[in-house]
Amino acid sequence: MAYIRALRLVNFRNYADATVVLAPGLNIVVGDNAQGKTNLLEGISFAVTGSTPRTPNDSETVRWGQDFTRAEMRVALQDAGDERRVAIGYAPGQKKRLTVDGAPVRSLADYAAGGAGVRTVTFFPDDIRIVKGAPSERREFIDVLLSSLRPSYARTVAEYAKVVQQRNQLLRRIRDGLSSPKTLSTWDRKVIELGKTVLAGRAAAIEPLGAFLESSVRALYGPEKAALRYSYSAPLENYAEALREAHSADIERGTTSVGPHRDDFEVLLGGVNLTTYGSQGQQRLATLALKFAAREYIRQQTGEDPILLFDDVMSELDEHRRGYLAGYFLESTQSVISTTNLEYFEDEVRRQARIIRIASGSVFEEANSNASQ
Ligand SMILES: Nc1ncnc2c1ncn2[C@@H]1O[C@H](COP(=O)(O)OP(=O)(O)OP(=O)(O)O)[C@@H](O)[C@H]1O
Ligand SMILES: [Mg+2]
Repeated sequence: MAYIRALRLVNFRNYADATVVLAPGLNIVVGDNAQGKTNLLEGISFAVTGSTPRTPNDSETVRWGQDFTRAEMRVALQDAGDERRVAIGYAPGQKKRLTVDGAPVRSLADYAAGGAGVRTVTFFPDDIRIVKGAPSERREFIDVLLSSLRPSYARTVAEYAKVVQQRNQLLRRIRDGLSSPKTLSTWDRKVIELGKTVLAGRAAAIEPLGAFLESSVRALYGPEKAALRYSYSAPLENYAEALREAHSADIERGTTSVGPHRDDFEVLLGGVNLTTYGSQGQQRLATLALKFAAREYIRQQTGEDPILLFDDVMSELDEHRRGYLAGYFLESTQSVISTTNLEYFEDEVRRQARIIRIASGSVFEEANSNASQ
């Protein structure tokens, strides 16, 4: 199974130049507040996907006062002994430079879909917005997941968003008497063609994801049944019809009211919608369970375990759940888990893990830490 051997971060967030060696299985990143634990997990994700999952604005990752950031990574591939070396350099205002084994990578979408030789599933405390927040958060969750599996899906999603924007501009022109309504049908065809691909991708994923969610929730939470339910602004069968029926309303508003950019999915626990009615704790556990579901889905689709990057996941859980999670992480191909408190992991778990200490953007590996590679 593929895993990350080592990562070097240069001018990334509060890291000037730091190298961290990772082991297969569980890696625990420990340090006080504001030392760089979250930044390290973000850096790993940046190296694996070519962008940061924490912000749409990559320039935030550049160390203050510097004009570029760089990450280098060595990945152990499935065939024992085989290794991939990747590097990503980024200077705000310029195109990112990615290389795999020294060869330039042209497409970021291709790279993000396993180009590094590994995939990741990340959990950051902010991710609770997937369950708690607006529909766009849930759409992004599923689109990023599917994009990590298929670059063609990523391209279709981007193209669809562009075409919807263009259609919206046209709708406003028609409203203002600058274009003829007849021109709309050409855009409808484009929107429908791309939108159908997006819908089909999501529809195929939502059922297995729901099943994986159900079993994760059972393990993490209790016997109540969890489920996902996709809610269509227009179902696949009469998408074209719905788009046509909305013409006059769309012209009036100057926006496209049906299609996958308006869809949502419900996260249900015991039949109750957690976005609307969930407690903070339920929303957090459901978010965690969704990430586990994403991991199982990637595993099912690719036959490979993604790397788990879970930030500060132990702090708000009780001891029983912490024990369950530790076991889950130990059994994964590779997981990198941050904490301020090593006590959250039992002695036996710590003995099997690699411990990485972080202080002010520097990495200290423990002498007795599991360094097996
Ligand atoms: N672009 C940047 N350049 C330099 N420093 C940055 C940059 N972005 C963030 N930082 C700083 O990096 C420090 C470490 O942040 P990080 O979020 O990794 O801490 P942490 O160890 O996860 O802390 P906590 O336990 O509180 O979550 C913070 O003080 C933050 O202000
Ligand atoms: Mg943090």
